[in-house]
Amino acid sequence: MIRSWLQRPETKKYAADVAVFALSQVAFYFAFKYIVGSLDPTKAKRQEAKAKSNRILGKLGAADIKLTEYEQIIAAEVIHADEISVNFKQIGGLDHIIQDLRESVIYPLCYPELFTSASGLLGAPKGVLLYGPPGCGKTMLAKALAKESGATFINIHVSTLTDKYYGESNKLVSAVFTLAKKLQPSIVFIDEIDSFLRERRSTDHETTGMMKAEFMSLWDGLTTGEDGRIVILGATNRPNDIDSAILRRMPKRFSVRLPTESQRRSILELLLKDIKLASDFDMTELVQRTAGLSGSDLKELCRNAAMIPIREYVRLIKPPTGENASKDLLDFDTANINTRPLTLADFYAFDATNERTYSLASDDLPQQEKLD
Ligand SMILES: Nc1ncnc2c1ncn2[C@@H]1O[C@H](COP(=O)(O)OP(=O)(O)OP(=O)(O)O)[C@@H](O)[C@H]1O
Ligand SMILES: [Mg+2]
Repeated sequence: MIRSWLQRPETKKYAADVAVFALSQVAFYFAFKYIVGSLDPTKAKRQEAKAKSNRILGKLGAADIKLTEYEQIIAAEVIHADEISVNFKQIGGLDHIIQDLRESVIYPLCYPELFTSASGLLGAPKGVLLYGPPGCGKTMLAKALAKESGATFINIHVSTLTDKYYGESNKLVSAVFTLAKKLQPSIVFIDEIDSFLRERRSTDHETTGMMKAEFMSLWDGLTTGEDGRIVILGATNRPNDIDSAILRRMPKRFSVRLPTESQRRSILELLLKDIKLASDFDMTELVQRTAGLSGSDLKELCRNAAMIPIREYVRLIKPPTGENASKDLLDFDTANINTRPLTLADFYAFDATNERTYSLASDDLPQQEKLD
C-alpha cells in the first residue's frame, strides 16, 4: 500500500516541492550568513586574531586548547619568550627589585608546590605594581620578567579591550581572565595601567565604568593555589591616578625611582661594556655628572657620545664629496673600522641642533612620586 502511495504522481510532486523548499531554505541561510558576515566591520580583525592566536597557541605547545572568539582576540596579545630580547642581566641597578620579583612572583607562580599552606597565606600576590618616573625601567622589568618567568605573558593593550561595540568590552575583559586560567601560570601585564584603571568618576562613560567593575570583580575571583596561578602586573608613572580599589588589589608594589649614584654606575657600565674607552676615562666623574638622569636618559647620552668617534672616523676616511657622499659609504670596509676610544669629553659635546649639551637633564624633571 505504501508503495502504491509512493508511486502516485501527486506524492512525487509533493516530495519534489519539499526538497526544493528545503534546498532554498539552506541556500537562503548561507546567503544570509554570508551577507551578515561581510557587513561585520570587525570580521577581518577577528580572522586575523584567530590566525594569530592559533600560531601563538602552537608556539606555547597548547594547540589543543579550545578558545572562544573573545579569548582568541586576547590570545593575540600573548607574547612568547622568544620574541623578547630583554633579560634581567641587561637591567642595571635594580637587582633588589629583580630578586624580590623572582622570589615573590616567579617562584610561587611557577613552582606552587613549594608554597602550599592550608591557610592560603603563601603564594603569589594577585597583583603587582611597578611605579616611578618615566624611563626608569618599568616596562623593561616587565619584559625581562616575561622572558625569564616561563609563565604565559599576556600583554593587554587597553585599545583591545575598549571595543567600540557596546557590551563587547565586558566579554573581552572576562576573556582575559578565562584565557589566563586556561594557559596558567600566567602574568597579565597592563602597561600604563593608570589609563585603564584610573580613579572612577561620575563623568566616566558607562561602558568604561562597567568594564572597570567587571575587571575588579573577576580579579577578586582569582583564587590562589593550583587553579589560580595568575598575577596581574601593572606599570605606571602616575600611581596617584589609579583607583584606590585597584591599588588594594595590587598589594605588592615596587618603586622604580630615578637611579642613585651606584645604580647609575651599574647602568653606565652595562651600557658601555662593549665600547672602547680611553685609558684615562673617569667613570666616577661621569656618574657624578649624570645626577638626576633616568635610565633612558643615560642610554640616550651614551648613544650620542658613542656616535661621535664613529662620525669623526667617517668624516676622516670619506670626507663628504658632493652628491654621492652617502653612496660612497657603501664600499666601506666595515671589518677594519678603527675608531678612537671614547673620552669623557664626548659626553659633553655640544648638540647644535638641540642647542644643549647632551648631558643636561631636562628642565622639568619628573616629580618625585607620592605613593610609598
Ligand atoms: N635600569 C636600567 N638599566 C638599563 N637600561 C635602562 C634602565 N632603565 C631604563 N633603561 C633604558 O631606558 C629605556 C626605557 O625604559 P622603560 O621603557 O623601561 O621605562 P619606563 O619606566 O617603562 O618608562 P615610562 O614610564 O615612560 O613607560 C629602556 O628600553 C632601556 O634601554
Ligand atoms: Mg613604560
